[in-house]
Amino acid sequence: MNIKIAIITCSSTRTLADDTAGAALAERIAEQGWTLAEHVVVSDERSVIGAAIVAATNAGSDIILTCGGTGLSPKDVTPEATADVCDRAVPGMAEAMRAASMEKTRRAMLSRAVCMQRGSTLVVNLPGSLKAATECFDAICDQFEHAVLMTAGEGH
Ligand code: MTE
Repeated sequence: MNIKIAIITCSSTRTLADDTAGAALAERIAEQGWTLAEHVVVSDERSVIGAAIVAATNAGSDIILTCGGTGLSPKDVTPEATADVCDRAVPGMAEAMRAASMEKTRRAMLSRAVCMQRGSTLVVNLPGSLKAATECFDAICDQFEHAVLMTAGEGH
């Protein structure tokens, strides 16, 4: 099944050229045979992140992966920006990421990542480091195709 996935890296210090986490996610998307809808780096401001999520939704992405800004520093606002523009939480996916991540590092409990639906798009917050982003992606990506089908209103 082909699904369209957008990557939005939320960082005021990173550029597309040095976004290694985003590049690794793009590689994994290609490995699965899925389509990379877009890969952008935006500043870590709440309204800017929200606008990027809305734009990726309007462009028809099935899934949006945000990368970074899920931690505890005052500048980490990605979960809030996601909630600003989304309708419903999908808590099980965020729980699954944290549960799998806790097997790797107890620091996993410091990510406030959320997964939510905006209309027929699923938005997944991933942490920002290459290691954390890929570990979290690997923890839940086996459910992406089924999640997209169900989000589109298909049955099991
Ligand atoms: N999850 C996994 N799987 N592996 C990790 O190394 N790092 C944690 C956590 N989640 C980590 C992880 C750390 S150190 C932080 S601070 C939080 O994610 C938030 O990261 P962010 O602020 O880059 O989003």
